[in-house]
Amino acid sequence: MKPIEWLGNSLKILDQTQLPQKETYAEIANYQEAVTAIKQLKVRGAPAIGIAAAYGIVLGALSIRTSDIGIFRKQLGVIFDDFAASRPTAVNLFHAITRLKTSCREDSVTAMRQCLVDTAKAIHAEEEKAMIRLSKYGADLIQDGFKILTHCNTGQLATGVTYGTALGIIKKAFEQGKNITVYVDETRPLLQGARLTTWELHILKIPHILISDNMAGYFLHSGQINCVILGADRIAANGDTANKIGTYSLSVLAKANRVPFYVAAPTSTIDRNTPTGAKIPIEERNSDEVLQISGVSIAPKNTRVSNPAFDVTPNKYIKAIITQNGIIEKPYKRNIESIFQEGH
Ligand code: MRU
Repeated sequence: MKPIEWLGNSLKILDQTQLPQKETYAEIANYQEAVTAIKQLKVRGAPAIGIAAAYGIVLGALSIRTSDIGIFRKQLGVIFDDFAASRPTAVNLFHAITRLKTSCREDSVTAMRQCLVDTAKAIHAEEEKAMIRLSKYGADLIQDGFKILTHCNTGQLATGVTYGTALGIIKKAFEQGKNITVYVDETRPLLQGARLTTWELHILKIPHILISDNMAGYFLHSGQINCVILGADRIAANGDTANKIGTYSLSVLAKANRVPFYVAAPTSTIDRNTPTGAKIPIEERNSDEVLQISGVSIAPKNTRVSNPAFDVTPNKYIKAIITQNGIIEKPYKRNIESIFQEGH
């Protein structure tokens, strides 16, 4: 399965909105389609959004018809802005944009295009390596016989690479021969757990049990879960973590029941410029996502709805943050900073 593939002049993505009913690949030929695919969650998950945006910006750069570097830069600026406005919470998107902006300052349009292609490919390759390392570190925390609770989707689909974050760790632990069972939160409103995580676990043949979100407390309280592992969309400098709505509730339940709560993310999800979770922008999405399930209404049409796509888990509830540079524990502010220093 290749959820994101660069074909030279176009971008091929596995359309996640169609899963698990249909495995449909979409070929994206221009940058506007890439922006729409990100907004509509055809491609989703923090690392996957960053990679898809990088290739999408390349598509935009290839379509600019000029040899004048000044005009090219101006039009490229508009493309950067369009991607930056696509989804606000996952910081991988903004890291990808900044990386392309700062790495590519060539004097000719041809050289600029080449630099953007090379940088997008480098971002993709680095995430591939990061997720392999992160999965190994995290798998050390999983013991034989563990029952693991996860939320949303954090595997190949969400990262665009072979492993994943929380699901990469689960995959690695399973490959190591550990007998594990994954409890999958359905993850309302858009059911990333029920639709996507169970789909990936089924392919990997990893034992799993689907539960509705409101069952998590029951399983945590009755001692049936050994740890919670999930991903992140943005980790602030102090370790506060934005992730799929419902993550905060899980963290409090885990703490109350003395179950370790782990966040797994590559360093591209850490935002050292955002001091605390209070400063992380939270995306508010369309009310239909709550009023409907798979297009079928579940409430009267005019019902008022609130639909924040993410919430913030305070660092005090997080036992450790697992990255490709190692496992970070408290105090997060100091230890997050040191993970970026040389030697890691
Ligand atoms: O709205 P989504 O589906 O893009 O949200 C995704 C999540 O919240 C994931 O948990 C997160 O991006 C981790 S991806 C490895």
